[in-house]
Amino acid sequence: MKVIGINASPRKKANTQTLIEAALAGAADKGAETRLVNLRELQINGCLGCEGCKKQLGKCVQKDDLTPLMQEMTTFDAIVLGTPVYWYHVSAQFKILVDRLYSFFDLGVDPQTGKTTIKSAFPAGKELLMFISRGDPEPAPMYGQFYKHLDEWLNIVPFSLGAGQFEFIHQYGANLDRKSAANDVELIQKARLAGEKLTIRES
Ligand SMILES: Cc1cc2nc3c(=O)[nH]c(=O)nc-3n(C[C@H](O)[C@H](O)[C@H](O)COP(=O)(O)O)c2cc1C
Repeated sequence: MKVIGINASPRKKANTQTLIEAALAGAADKGAETRLVNLRELQINGCLGCEGCKKQLGKCVQKDDLTPLMQEMTTFDAIVLGTPVYWYHVSAQFKILVDRLYSFFDLGVDPQTGKTTIKSAFPAGKELLMFISRGDPEPAPMYGQFYKHLDEWLNIVPFSLGAGQFEFIHQYGANLDRKSAANDVELIQKARLAGEKLTIRES
């Protein structure tokens, strides 16, 4: 069992990373082989929209650090992702990852039915755990309706990965305190247990 954690927070050892590490520790306790990748340490570019991947599905033409990482992601049994909330959305690093996963997708139209067809070269059925850390408490003090959009949008992540089981864990009220997750015993325990759960396949 192999589990990869991908941290999309630009802040080193802050809340998102702490939560991913807790989950990876939980999975490792149950015998999983784990690896943590911090997107902030990689050279990553946004999607070019060149459609080069449609000629060779699953192969992004870009030569940056994300191209091999996306290939590596296909080899893991479970994926743990984490992002801070930035301006009511995910971080730029996280959005780049999701945009680039488009390289596995071919969206078309069935000429007979006119319906959208979806072909994905990303191996389906992987387990997914996702952490979303935000400064605001719940309920949000202002523009709370924007979080509805975020919550809905987040469903694109399991969809783009063709995930099997998936779970979202939100951290609320972190403010800008990078140690708030580390100081929240209950949340760390929840993250750890979610990581352990990744090693148990539910049928
Ligand atoms: C540019 C920026 C934008 C942010 N926007 C929001 C926001 O819209 N809503 C919110 O609740 N917190 C917002 N925050 C706070 C972060 O989500 C919060 O501090 C989070 O815990 C950061 O995760 P990290 O510790 O892993 O970096 C923002 C922080 C930054 C730096």
